[in-house]
Amino acid sequence: MNWQSVLHPAGNDAEVIVEIAWVLFGGGTLIFVGVMIMLAMSLRHGRPHVRPAVWLIGAGVVFPVTVLSALLVYSIHRSQQLLAPVSHDALVVSVTAKMWWWEVRYRDPVTGRDIVTANEIRLPANKPVYLALTSDDVIHSFWVPALAGKVDMLPGRLTRLRVKTGAPGIYRGQCAEYCGEQHAKMALHVVVEEAPAFDAWLSNQAQPARATNDPLLAAGRQVFLTQRCAACHTIRGVADENLIGGQTLAPDLTHIGSRLYLGAGILRNEGENMRDWIAQTQRFKHGARMPGFADMPEHELDALARYLESLQ
Ligand code: CUA
Repeated sequence: MNWQSVLHPAGNDAEVIVEIAWVLFGGGTLIFVGVMIMLAMSLRHGRPHVRPAVWLIGAGVVFPVTVLSALLVYSIHRSQQLLAPVSHDALVVSVTAKMWWWEVRYRDPVTGRDIVTANEIRLPANKPVYLALTSDDVIHSFWVPALAGKVDMLPGRLTRLRVKTGAPGIYRGQCAEYCGEQHAKMALHVVVEEAPAFDAWLSNQAQPARATNDPLLAAGRQVFLTQRCAACHTIRGVADENLIGGQTLAPDLTHIGSRLYLGAGILRNEGENMRDWIAQTQRFKHGARMPGFADMPEHELDALARYLESLQ
């Protein structure tokens, strides 16, 4: 699995970057070996058999200038491809970094409204994608090494990343700019899937949360509303979008059950992890805005966790 590796590219830009890296490494190795051979020769013979001027010009000027110039021309030429314009049919995804999670927005092709999710970006395979990146607080950096290079995410500014996805797979990404206490736990996952699966996923994400008559799930929904969850989190159709100063405060949970991970990549969304995350948030991610709810009665905690898991 191409988990989080710069050496296993799964997108056009990442392929170019890893190719440049290998060529530069090869060039560096060539120079290193050349220098070591000359060092060995001079140690062995005391002084070289060739004339000093030839040594100086050949080994000190011609050899490094030739190798370094070739590498420079090659890397400038090759990296032009990373700056190619975004194609018009690219899928646009907006990603906003927050301490310490990621808000992800798609434009609904039918209604034109935003489809909001968090910490997981789904993309169709073999398609051009335009990622519009920004931050709501401090500087973060978007880095999914299997797909492309790093791009800073700056408050009040839009940066962009052009990605051409490759084969389906799950690719881990990581915030790559120190952004506070939980910088290390600010991960995300990019799920690349075939176009029909992606389209089905997107149209499901556009829907409000599924209504439920199940008594346990309905009780969980009630807990969500009566505890403080709805003060920050949105569940479309249950608790509408909370905006303060135009910013969302917490991940949209409308389809939280469909995500692979909780807490921005730190817990798999399975087993008792939902329940544990709600109760022990500060133990898993100290300093996060969400307080832990360890004092919540057991039956309420259970109902809430089951309800959130049911939001597929
Ligand atoms: Cu966000 Cu480091």
